[in-house]
Amino acid sequence: AEPDLIRNFCIIAHIDHGKSTLADRLLELTGAVADRDKQAQILDSMDLERERGITIKAQTATVDYKAKDGKIYTLNLIDTPGHVDFTYEVSRSLTACEGALLVVDATQGVEAQTVANVYLAGDNNVEIIPVINKADLPSADYDRVCFQIEEELAIDTSNAIKCSAKTGMGVADVLEAIIHYVPAPEDTRSKDLRALIFDSWFDPYQGVIVLVRVVDGIVKIGDQIKMMHSGKTFEVQKVGIMCVKAYQRDSLSAGEVGYIIANVKDVKDSRVGDTICMANSNVEPLPGFKKAKQMVFAGIFPVETNQFENLKDALAKLTLNDSSLSYEPETSVALGFGFRCGFLGLLHMEIIQERLEREYNMNVIFTAPTCVYIVETTKGEELRVDNPSNLPPPANIAKFSEPVVKATFHMPQEHLGGVMALLAERRGLQTKMEYLSQSRVMLQYELPLNEMVFDFFDRIKSISRGYASMDYEFHDYKESDLVRLDILVNGEPLDALSCIVHRSNSYERGRLLVKKLREVIPRQQFEVPLQAAIGSKVIARETLSAMRKDVTAKCYGGDISRKRKLLDKQKEGKKRMKQVGSVEIPQEAFMAILNLS
Ligand code: GTP
Repeated sequence: AEPDLIRNFCIIAHIDHGKSTLADRLLELTGAVADRDKQAQILDSMDLERERGITIKAQTATVDYKAKDGKIYTLNLIDTPGHVDFTYEVSRSLTACEGALLVVDATQGVEAQTVANVYLAGDNNVEIIPVINKADLPSADYDRVCFQIEEELAIDTSNAIKCSAKTGMGVADVLEAIIHYVPAPEDTRSKDLRALIFDSWFDPYQGVIVLVRVVDGIVKIGDQIKMMHSGKTFEVQKVGIMCVKAYQRDSLSAGEVGYIIANVKDVKDSRVGDTICMANSNVEPLPGFKKAKQMVFAGIFPVETNQFENLKDALAKLTLNDSSLSYEPETSVALGFGFRCGFLGLLHMEIIQERLEREYNMNVIFTAPTCVYIVETTKGEELRVDNPSNLPPPANIAKFSEPVVKATFHMPQEHLGGVMALLAERRGLQTKMEYLSQSRVMLQYELPLNEMVFDFFDRIKSISRGYASMDYEFHDYKESDLVRLDILVNGEPLDALSCIVHRSNSYERGRLLVKKLREVIPRQQFEVPLQAAIGSKVIARETLSAMRKDVTAKCYGGDISRKRKLLDKQKEGKKRMKQVGSVEIPQEAFMAILNLS
């Protein structure tokens, strides 16, 4: 297409403000979707996404739109992932666009991720069109939300659109606004090829499919191309555009958005943010390439030890589509053979857990998530520690540093006290507090990531009854008084429950863990001490008293079928048991303690 008839845009929003619903409406109005293809959420292709309503992978759609000026425009909608863990992917999607629809829920107003997304858009020089959504709801307050956008985000709302993605009201105006306010891409077709990768995934039949925004030049079937970051070269086999389905073309040129298939076998060779150029070219790569950084690590172990190979296969398949997930073998005394996996953040981890369970039918145990600590040993070595069991003995540690995030919270004023109390308890350091209006407050904190991995999001949610929104980004490493807390069952360390905590929290955490453990481990035939220890010093203890476990005792020998049922049930329970020394621990015990289910 001619560049002046192209508009590249994306939709940014806080979670649940209606991004996916609006995207569906736009596609529907432009006729991209026949009714039979209409599913709950068209752009979210994975089942999991549909159920959770979270867009995990950025996807894109190209549609033709006949505008009021009589011309036919090509609109490229680039879908962005909606969650904090995927900030980098959002920023790459933004780079691929000239404009962004900023969707704000008319009943909620500006939230933490609205602000974060606007900053990202500002960094990428993207034209922002405010879309005030959910205008059909009685509590919608268009004027207030516009005022808020002007005040808090310094965005002009004179071109804002009132709409309801649900009823369709105002959605046609959104299309016209895109034509008017989103700048057309520059015509740089005559330059050397540069294409920005903003998504890639593995297709079992085609190999890696790369989604690109062609920034300069043209790419055609048969071209020899190079991924500038990996330096690897490939021959282009297919190119085309995505419009709910894929449509093959002969070439893609500057300003266009589409896919390239080039016999790439590994998504790691086509990382988001990398630049594609011609194999023999020496153009400058497009700015901003970053390798997604893993912030959180956890062990994943199969509940049944014979499932190790299946778990390995499942992880291999997941990493084919997700280059930000990593895994390597790990052995745990308590849990046997498994993998140490790295994630972008806690939500990314949760998504992987669900996908393993749902798509791969795996029964897995996740160990306590750990962030990446930097330890300087007394010998002057610097270690990056992402696993409590790799921590050197305390005597060999000269300096222990932990990652600290910058976290922003938005909430109604009545929840301020509760949220601040939680943040103080979690070693948070307030850096900013601002009243956005009489009733809404913004808080900014420096908060150790370590304090967020343990029951944090749920606490924030319950304290604020769901009204506080948050966003966070990595800030810095800070020296801290940290210790490794070990949990011993009958004198045997339960390595899967070891964790790194701040010394000031260690007693309380230790007490909590052994208490919880006592509640979830069934009584054994002998007395079992449960202890929490720092090094060789025991700081908390509970005792599990002995009991002979006889589930049929209640049946008085009478009903044999009932007895069999109970025995079967017990057998089933056995399968999910882990043997630690001479003690059997049900997997639910780990789940309960790790607070992940
Ligand atoms: P994430 O994908 O989780 O980031 O959410 P999202 O921003 O894509 O929101 P989504 O489109 O899934 O909408 C969230 C909820 O709001 C859904 O239950 C929608 O049905 C509802 N919703 C979206 N737009 C409107 C609207 O205009 N009016 C009303 N009443 N509800 C809407």
